[in-house]
Amino acid sequence: MNVEEAIKRRRSTREYENKPIPVEKLERVLNAARLAPSAHNMQDRKFVVVKDKKTKKELAKAANYQFFVGEAPVVIVGVATEPEHILSSGIPSWIDVVIAMDHITLAATEEGLGTCWIGAFDQTAAKEALKIPERYRVIELMPLGYPIRPLGIRAKDRKSLNEIVCFDKFKK
Ligand SMILES: Cc1cc2nc3c(=O)[nH]c(=O)nc-3n(C[C@H](O)[C@H](O)[C@H](O)COP(=O)(O)O)c2cc1C
Repeated sequence: MNVEEAIKRRRSTREYENKPIPVEKLERVLNAARLAPSAHNMQDRKFVVVKDKKTKKELAKAANYQFFVGEAPVVIVGVATEPEHILSSGIPSWIDVVIAMDHITLAATEEGLGTCWIGAFDQTAAKEALKIPERYRVIELMPLGYPIRPLGIRAKDRKSLNEIVCFDKFKK
């Protein structure tokens, strides 16, 4: 699968088969996160791979009771280990974690696996569930598993290029 196809096939998956993910598939997905770029190549990020049922349930609760989170065979949790670090642009360096998580979504698609960004969650509850030190920050939860419906290429509800792209100078 090429990148374009992976981008087109990826979609938020909220229903998963009750089927474990082979270790080598999971490793390829995680390796895509490892190879992602980061500011100054600092790589201040950690990924908690959650398979334990009870812990997944706690994460689902932390995610405002989005129960499907607990039903995926794996939940990958992206954690920033230097969350206070700000780049010269004024942007927090934890965007590195976001980039790595997006690599995960595309690598997962290539493996026939579904993912869903979970940005709605309680920071304290997620940290407690995983025993994450207070000074770190959970950036995102990402369930991962075989989708009930295969990831086909479908039209996406997106703005047109004209609406989001301008050339040379900013235009509203
Ligand atoms: C930062 C971020 C946070 C999100 N949080 C949630 C969430 O908490 N629960 C959920 O079901 N989907 C969540 N989504 C998924 C979006 O709803 C989804 O990406 C969007 O509707 C486009 O659909 P698609 O991913 O299928 O292309 C989130 C997506 C992003 C990028």
